[in-house]
Amino acid sequence: MYNKKAALYYDYFVGKGDIPFFRRLLLRLGGAVLDMGCGTGTMALDFAGAGLEVVGVDNSPYMLDMADSRRDKLTPRVKERVEFVEGDMQDFPWDHQFSTAIFARGSFAHLLSSEEQMACLANVRKLLEVGGRIVLDLSPPSIEFLQGGTKLGETVGVDGDIKLLRTIHTRCDLNRQLCHHTVIYEQYRGGVLQERVLGELSLSLLFPREVMLLLQASGFSIQEIYGDAHGESFTSTSRRLIVVASK
Ligand SMILES: C[S@@+](CC[C@H](N)C(=O)[O-])C[C@H]1O[C@@H](n2cnc3c(N)ncnc32)[C@H](O)[C@@H]1O
Repeated sequence: MYNKKAALYYDYFVGKGDIPFFRRLLLRLGGAVLDMGCGTGTMALDFAGAGLEVVGVDNSPYMLDMADSRRDKLTPRVKERVEFVEGDMQDFPWDHQFSTAIFARGSFAHLLSSEEQMACLANVRKLLEVGGRIVLDLSPPSIEFLQGGTKLGETVGVDGDIKLLRTIHTRCDLNRQLCHHTVIYEQYRGGVLQERVLGELSLSLLFPREVMLLLQASGFSIQEIYGDAHGESFTSTSRRLIVVASK
């Protein structure tokens, strides 16, 4: 899904308000960080700027190109703390262990079956040092979301009179616990459509109890649970499920 244009446009629609929470969490946990499904590297680059050693992994070369070009702009000291590698979360190999593995902004939901999710968790377990932590950041399915439909277009200004409009059509298969998204980006200059980019993306609908069971069945013990990226408790109305579990 994350082709060249989707990678280019992704960041315009993702806020940065959640980064300080994850930075503080990772600094508290300490040690080397594995950023799984790192995307365009926003989090990994921030963590490296805060003094952490980070390896970012993603299977989209386009997302990684964006991450690498941002890395190139860093000072040499920060730059040497962060590295981006093309790989699959399920079988990514590395020659040393990490203190924490983070799956920020739903990257774990890109694994579409329990087999893939368990394979990934087993791989992470191998890559973590004794007592190491996994941080899963997911969006628990809401009733509105499960009903599917079209999310009204959201517009952001890009540069001067260039604007970007994103519309998402969502279709959930409740029996398979999958949600299919069609994402349409339209670029306007002075109100005139310049280009339209279409992408397809499927995500797992992961329910909170299932997430806990997956972690426990994979040998992790749950340590902390949050309902948003401000550290609030997880409640019936939480829009986010952030779980910290230890090996
Ligand atoms: C929703 S984006 C999140 C990006 C990033 N974590 C962030 O905070 O902005 C999910 C990312 O996971 C990557 N991804 C999906 N499946 C993957 C897999 N099996 N292995 C590695 N990366 C994967 C996608 O290419 C995409 O960049």
